[in-house]
Amino acid sequence: MRILVHDGFFSIQSLPSVDREEREGYSLTPASRLLLKEESLNITPLFLVFLDPIMLDPWQNMSKWLRNENDINPFQTTHGKMAYELAVEDPKLYQSINEGMASDGRLVASVILKHCKGIFEELDSVVDVGGGTGTFAMCIAEAFPNLSYINFDLPQVVKGLEGSKNLSFVGGDMFETIPKAQAVLFKVFIPYYTCLLTLKSLII
Ligand SMILES: C[S@@+](CC[C@H](N)C(=O)[O-])C[C@H]1O[C@@H](n2cnc3c(N)ncnc32)[C@H](O)[C@@H]1O
Repeated sequence: MRILVHDGFFSIQSLPSVDREEREGYSLTPASRLLLKEESLNITPLFLVFLDPIMLDPWQNMSKWLRNENDINPFQTTHGKMAYELAVEDPKLYQSINEGMASDGRLVASVILKHCKGIFEELDSVVDVGGGTGTFAMCIAEAFPNLSYINFDLPQVVKGLEGSKNLSFVGGDMFETIPKAQAVLFKVFIPYYTCLLTLKSLII
């Protein structure tokens, strides 16, 4: 509990004393409130993805991954493929990852719309590369009706998804080509891979 308090996940509060004895209790903080079911910006689905053994097992293979030149990340070392490749073969995993990313998309969009609206205000068009099933895209496209928003992801991910007046879903492989737009957005995608690869190159 002390670690969680230190990390700001819980706070310590003084409780009314009993028999003149000082007492302390734990209370929720804005961070832990995000795990409450009744919170509209609840990110429990994202935590459930991280706690899935499929996602936890790669932590056991960090040293194997570091010694292996070819694997991009420990997930690939453990499962032989990337998470999104495994997910398209496993409907349960696919649904849980999508729900997790959707909860993150809602939270991040709400923070951006509250504090960093300027990012999108000046733009005519944006392509969200690796945008997944588009929860973040929908929030932003709805808030900026004059912004043309392209949610770009692998064909099997965006297949059958319906856009709106200013939101389109485009399938493709970013290593081949990406649709043209004034700005390119990467959310929870390139930074993750870049961090891991940088980490690996620093350690090896
Ligand atoms: C970690 S998810 C991030 C999803 C979304 N940006 C978000 O934050 O909710 C990474 C996404 O990248 C997509 N992706 C992986 N390789 C890709 C490629 N070569 N071209 C386009 N999208 C790709 C995956 O299908 C997945 O939806």
